[in-house]
Amino acid sequence: MLILIDDADVTKIKELYAKYPYDGVTTNPTILSKTGNPDPMDQLKKIQSVMPKDAMLHAQVLSTETEDMVREARHMVSVLGENTYIKVPVTANGLKAIDILAKEGISATATAVYGVMPAFMAAKAGAKFLAPYVNRLDNLGYDGVQTAKDIHTMIKASGYETEVLGASFKNSQQVLEMGKFGIGAVTVNPDTLKSLALNQVAEKAVQDFIRDFEGCCGEGKTMLDF
Ligand code: E4P
Repeated sequence: MLILIDDADVTKIKELYAKYPYDGVTTNPTILSKTGNPDPMDQLKKIQSVMPKDAMLHAQVLSTETEDMVREARHMVSVLGENTYIKVPVTANGLKAIDILAKEGISATATAVYGVMPAFMAAKAGAKFLAPYVNRLDNLGYDGVQTAKDIHTMIKASGYETEVLGASFKNSQQVLEMGKFGIGAVTVNPDTLKSLALNQVAEKAVQDFIRDFEGCCGEGKTMLDF
């Protein structure tokens, strides 16, 4: 399962890459706005500068008409390079834009996915990834995890290479469910990411080992001292 960072803060992204293995970064207009940088392309280039070369960047179009979405996507790829996945909301106009972009060889990530059939239609249009909003679905009274699983089942049953990119998580359990089901990718905010990788019980166990070892062998000692 690919794990991406759902954030646009360069310092946080750099810090996370230094510690953990991640596959890329996703942003949306809200996430970019939180950086306070009025030039989104500048911010996206800064993000690219701290990402490994083969990592993927997902960034979203703002236009709402098909032709405008396509022009915006072409522009974004020309500025940010080919390993950029253009996030296109799954609206009627968005579905047509995904179809046009796929035929041009531009990678599209269908975003704002709130149901199985819209996701399926986006896969049919040629999207590379489908991003169901797991936690937002939960907040609407639907089962976000189950929706993501149903999308995965349906696109795989139909033979599409498209992958689910689970999005909008608020806890590690939701992410765990994606992994157990073989979902291709998730994008997770830094706090949830840290909760995936860190285990406070393990940290406590390490402190107990050190205390016991030092009690016998001397303060600050490790195996290097013997
Ligand atoms: C990703 O495509 C979405 O933009 C993002 O994960 C939404 O997350 P949120 O529901 O926490 O805003």
